[in-house]
Amino acid sequence: MALGGQYRVVMQVRGSIAFEESGSGPLAVFVHGYPLDHRLWLDQLESLSDIRRCVAPDLPGFGSSQPLETFTMETVADSIAAFIGNEQADVIALSMGGYVALALWERHPEVVRSLALLDTKAGADTPEAREGRSAQAAQVAEQGTGSLVAGMTRALLAPEAADNAKKRLAEMIEATTSRAVIAALEAMASRLDRTRLLSTIDVPVTVLVGALDALTPPTVAVEMATAIPDSTVSVIPGAGHLTPIEAPDDVSALLRHFLVR
Ligand code: MLT
Repeated sequence: MALGGQYRVVMQVRGSIAFEESGSGPLAVFVHGYPLDHRLWLDQLESLSDIRRCVAPDLPGFGSSQPLETFTMETVADSIAAFIGNEQADVIALSMGGYVALALWERHPEVVRSLALLDTKAGADTPEAREGRSAQAAQVAEQGTGSLVAGMTRALLAPEAADNAKKRLAEMIEATTSRAVIAALEAMASRLDRTRLLSTIDVPVTVLVGALDALTPPTVAVEMATAIPDSTVSVIPGAGHLTPIEAPDDVSALLRHFLVR
């Protein structure tokens, strides 16, 4: 059920990671993208709480979590592995969260029971993408994260996105510090190409993508799924890059189908 922009505010903290948790059963960890926080997943935390202990952390430096000294996909993956501890988790990850999830698979496969990769890709940045990131970092250093809202709303959401998706996106961007944004931009610009890792994934994977995702379009998602041995791919009609808030019911239903398979 869509939450209509109302957030639960009860957060917990383990070590330097703040997180929100719901439900009981096997652990599922939800990894948000850039420049967002755990609130990306509030609808799924509610919808899937009858089949999973759903835990949505704020990545280091984002939301209420403490920053890492060095922010790279690898250091963030290590912090997620430490957060999962001796358990295994279904790892559900969007965009930059997907970059982290692939680093997690590379470095700590023992903690991963399955992977849901939403609106993400395995490749590295192109030189043009890196230039765009430098420009965005300069903008944020000068004008703050609020200056990102209009452009990112256009880039991340489908043109017909609901007002509550726009509102939730704006709230997450505005709550993110300039320091976190700049660290994440640098980390994404220098992240490794993990395309060759895909064929090594030997847990079940589902790939979800918004039909109107302009950043990581369905062609990229299908290509990624094709390279993963045990995978399915679903294209979500009408949604852009932020499927969990643009099409919350579709995403929850697809994740439920995957998790109870
Ligand atoms: C995200 O949604 O996490 C970012 O847009 C990913 C990216 O910029 O590569």
